[in-house]
Amino acid sequence: MRTQVGIVGAGPAGLLLSHLLHLRGIESVVLEARNRSDIESTIRAGVLEQGTMDLLNEAGLGARMQAEGAVHHGFELAFEGQRRRIALTELTGHSITVYAQHEVIKDLVAARVAADAALKFGVSDVSLHDFESGGTSRPRIRYAHEGDRHELECDFIVGCDGSQGVARGSMPQAQRHDYQRIYPFGWFGILVEAPPSSNELIYARHDRGFALISTRSPTVQRMYFQCDPKDSADAWSDDRIWAELHARVDTHDGWQITEGRIFQKNIVGMRSFVSTPMQSGKLFLAGDAAHIVPPTGAKGMNLAVSDVRVLTAALRAFYEEGTNDQLDRYTETALKRVWRAEHFSWWMTRMLHKLDDTSPFEQRLQVAELEHVTTSHAAATALAENYVGSVAV
Ligand code: PHB
Repeated sequence: MRTQVGIVGAGPAGLLLSHLLHLRGIESVVLEARNRSDIESTIRAGVLEQGTMDLLNEAGLGARMQAEGAVHHGFELAFEGQRRRIALTELTGHSITVYAQHEVIKDLVAARVAADAALKFGVSDVSLHDFESGGTSRPRIRYAHEGDRHELECDFIVGCDGSQGVARGSMPQAQRHDYQRIYPFGWFGILVEAPPSSNELIYARHDRGFALISTRSPTVQRMYFQCDPKDSADAWSDDRIWAELHARVDTHDGWQITEGRIFQKNIVGMRSFVSTPMQSGKLFLAGDAAHIVPPTGAKGMNLAVSDVRVLTAALRAFYEEGTNDQLDRYTETALKRVWRAEHFSWWMTRMLHKLDDTSPFEQRLQVAELEHVTTSHAAATALAENYVGSVAV
C-alpha cells in the first residue's frame, strides 16, 4: 500500500492533520492502536482557544461545537475566600469555548469516515523505517491489522501517537534532547450530575491545594482538586471529595459550589515535557508525541492543533510549490508556541498549587501574585492573552 502522508495515531493531531490534508488534495492513511469507541469516550480536558475554534470552523468541523459548546468570555481566580474575574474578551478581544476533547474526536472521526478516509483502528506492532534523509528508499510504516502484517510506503511519516507512542522513540537518540519537569502532585477529576456552580470556570488557590470548577453541559460538571498522584480514586468517598472541594473553593460571602451525583472519578499525573527536535528526515512529530503540558493552562489540545496548522502549511508548500523550507523549519516554528505554552502552564501551575517545598513565605508570594494579576490591567492582560492563545510568539 502507498500514500503521501502516513499518520500514526488518531487523536486530535492525527485526525485533524488527515482532514486538513484531504481539503488540500493530499492523501493520507491514519493508523490507530485503539478502537473507535475507546478514542471517542476517553475523558480529557475541554478548553478550545479561539484560534482552535476558528480552524475547526474553517475546516467545516464546527457545527456541533457551535451548537453544544459553551463560549466563555472570562474565568475566575478564587483565593483568600473571594473570587476575582479575568475578563478574557474585554482584555483580548478573544474568547474560549468549553467543548470536551472526545467530542472534537467524534466530529473529526465522523468527517474522516464521511470522506471515505483510510482510517484503521486496532493496529499493533507499528514500526517506522527508512525516514532518514539521504536514504534511497521511501519511508515505510510496518504494522499488524486483523491478523495480517502490512507495509505502508509514504512520502512522509507523522507521529501523532501521544506520549506513550512509538514515534518519538523512533527518533535517532543521538539527535534528541528531552526537557522535563515532573510535578509531585496530580489532579483528582470528577464528573458530576448537577447544574453549573458558576457561569465561568473557577481556578482556586488554597493552602490545602488547588481546585478547578469546570463544566461539560448544563447538567454535567467537571471538577478537579490537587491530590497525591499515587493516591487511589477509590480511597475517596463522595463525602470526603465534597468536603475537600468546599474547603478549597467556597467563598467567605457564603457562596458554595453545587453538589450532585458523582459518576466518574480519576487521577491524572502532571508533567511538563518537550522533546526536540520535532523532526528527523521525513519523520515529524505533532502534539503529545513531542510535548506535554500540565492541564492548568488548558493548552494540550490547542498545542496539538497549532503543530498541525504549521505542518499542514509546510506539506502544502511541498506538494503545491515543490519547496522544502517550511518543512525544514517545522521544529523551529512549532517550538515557539510550544515553549510559550510550556512557560504559561508551568507558571499557572506554580501560582495555584500547593508545592512540596511551599513555605509560609512562598504561600504569601502566591497570594501576592494572584492579587497582582487580578488588579493590574497589564498583568491581567498578559494572563488573558496567554489563556486565549492570542499572545505573540
Ligand atoms: C476541563 O474542563 O476538563 C478543564 C478545563 C480547564 C483546564 C483543564 C481542564 O485548565
